[in-house]
Amino acid sequence: MKLLIKGGIVSAALFAAFGANADEEASLVINEDIEITVRTDAPAHLDNMRTIYSGWVYRSDETQALQMDDFENPGMIFVDDAIDVWASADGSEGKGCVDCHNEPASMAGVRATYPKWNEEAGEVRTLAMQVNGCRTERMGAEEWKYDGSDMLNMEALLASVSRGMPVNVAIDGPAQSTWEMGKELYYTRTGQLDLSCANCHEDNYGNNIRADHLSQGQINGFPTYRLKNAKLNGVQSRFRGCVRDTRAETYAVGSDEFIALELYVASRGNGLSVEGPSVRN
Ligand code: HEC
Ligand code: HEC
Repeated sequence: MKLLIKGGIVSAALFAAFGANADEEASLVINEDIEITVRTDAPAHLDNMRTIYSGWVYRSDETQALQMDDFENPGMIFVDDAIDVWASADGSEGKGCVDCHNEPASMAGVRATYPKWNEEAGEVRTLAMQVNGCRTERMGAEEWKYDGSDMLNMEALLASVSRGMPVNVAIDGPAQSTWEMGKELYYTRTGQLDLSCANCHEDNYGNNIRADHLSQGQINGFPTYRLKNAKLNGVQSRFRGCVRDTRAETYAVGSDEFIALELYVASRGNGLSVEGPSVRN
C-alpha cells in the first residue's frame, strides 16, 4: 500500500484503499491479435515510480472487456467515420489526406511520437496541431476545432493504426524546454483542494478517490471513449476536467500550457503501447 500524500490534511480524507477486485494483473490483447503493453518499467526520467500502468488496468472487468474486441469497442465507430473523411477532398486544393499519405496504415507509428518538435514550424506540435497544419497549409481547408469531433475521430484513426507500438516521445533537444514546463505544471498544486496531478496520479494510483479507482493518468489510450459521456474524449479536455475537479481555474484546450503538459504526460508513458481509441468510464 502506498502512502497517502505528504502533508495534505484535507486531501488525505479524499483517498481510500481500493476495495473491489478490478483485475490489475490482467493482460490486454485486442482482437486476439494486437498485444498491448499495459505495464512496463518506468522511463528513466521518472524518479518516483518503478512501473508504469495503462489506465485500462484499473477499470472494471466489464470495461476492460469492451476494449478487447473492435466490435465491442464503441470508439471504433468513429474510426470508421474518419476512414471516410481520410479519402474525401476538402478545401481549396481539392485534396484529401489520401492524396498525400496513401492509406491510413501509412501512419503506423506516428501517434507514438507525438507531441513532437516540428522543425519547419519551430514549435512542439500535438497530433491535433499537425493535422490542422496539413488542413490549413496543404489543403487550403478550415481548421478543425481542437478536441472537436472531426479532430477526435481522425486522432482515433491515427491511434488505431499504431496500436501495440510503444509510446516514444522525445524529451530532449528542441523539445526540452517545453517538456520542463509541462513537468513544472504536473507537480504544481492548484485549486481549493491544493492538489497537483502528481498528488492523485503518482502518490495515489491504485487507491480510491470518491467512487473512482485512480490510475496513473496516462494518455497512451487517447482518444478515449468514455461510458460516462458516450463519446470520444481528447487528452486536453480530460486535463481540464481533472483541474476543474481540484476547483482551480484551468487552461484552455490548445494553450501553450496544455501542449507542454501533454508532452510531459505522454513522456511518463514512454514504453506503454498506443491503445487508442480506448474505453474508460
Ligand atoms: C498536400 C499534401 C498533404 C495533404 C493533403 C495532407 N498532408 Fe499530412 N503531411 C504532408 C506533409 C508534406 C507532411 C510532412 C511535413 C510536415 O511535417 O508538415 C505531412 C505530415 C503529416 C503528419 C505527421 C507525420 C509524421 O511522421 O510526423 C500527419 C499525422 C498528417 N500529415 C496527417 C494528415 C491528415 C489527417 C490529413 C488529412 C486531413 C493530411 N495529413 C493531409 C502533406 C499533406
Ligand atoms: C483530485 C485527484 C486528481 C487530480 C489532482 C488529477 N486527476 Fe486526473 N483523474 C482523476 C480521476 C479520479 C480520474 C479517473 C480515474 C482514472 O483514470 O485515474 C482521472 C483521470 C485522468 C486521466 C485519464 C486516464 C485514462 O487512462 O484515460 C488523465 C490523462 C488524467 N487524469 C490526467 C491528469 C492530469 C494531467 C492532472 C493534472 C493537471 C490530473 N489528472 C489531476 C483524478 C485526478
